[in-house]
Amino acid sequence: MSKIPAESSVAPDIKPLTIADEDSNKRNWGILLPGIAGGTLVALYSVAIPFIVPALRKHCLPFVPATSKQIENVLIMLKGRNGILVDIGSGDGRIVIAAAKVGFKAVGYELNPWLVWYSRYRAWREGVHQDVNFYISDLWKVSFSQYTNVVIFGVPQMMLQLEKKLGDELQQDARVIACRFPFPHWRPNHSFGEGIDTVWAYDSKSFRMKKENDAAIVKGILSS
Ligand SMILES: C[S@@+](CC[C@H](N)C(=O)[O-])C[C@H]1O[C@@H](n2cnc3c(N)ncnc32)[C@H](O)[C@@H]1O
Repeated sequence: MSKIPAESSVAPDIKPLTIADEDSNKRNWGILLPGIAGGTLVALYSVAIPFIVPALRKHCLPFVPATSKQIENVLIMLKGRNGILVDIGSGDGRIVIAAAKVGFKAVGYELNPWLVWYSRYRAWREGVHQDVNFYISDLWKVSFSQYTNVVIFGVPQMMLQLEKKLGDELQQDARVIACRFPFPHWRPNHSFGEGIDTVWAYDSKSFRMKKENDAAIVKGILSS
């Protein structure tokens, strides 16, 4: 005959909830919920603020990544060149990484630390981390004099000031490639692409010569 298992004689240790326990539970949630909400807000702010700050500066330069066509056009303008490449405001690193893949040592300067960390991760994932460097820096506080290939995807409002800065800093053999928005006074040596993917290449020999000619004209006017 099979035995019916006896019911456990040990009663589970369940204590009845008192009103005081319920109050304490409510108090805990009352502390926890605003804590979670506050923490989430702080996390969201710390991610969002670096994306908002560039838009609040004197020259509003938001993160708008280059299109694949734009990158292809930049690489066409770099054909036959060597030396180090710099992308001014390097975003998520796509131009720097593309340049490294075709053999350049390449560097990016970017204000947004999240984008710089992401660029470093991306370079590592794509196997070019040894050929690239990304710096968290304000482009207006960096000298670009050591670079022979300079890429900028800027906004029209900043191009005049950048033209002056690069004109003062770059060496004789440098080439500057502007994406989407050209420089206001320099005459491009080459251009390629259509619409928003257009890129313009400026050789420093040309813009330095223009600078010297302009200075000679001003000097001539002043001395006459
Ligand atoms: C139009 S996006 C170009 C991104 C990248 N070069 C590309 O082509 O995909 C401009 C980038 O410049 C960065 N930026 C804005 N102001 C800056 C500054 N003062 N110094 C450095 N980077 C800046 C922005 O965060 C943004 O990622």
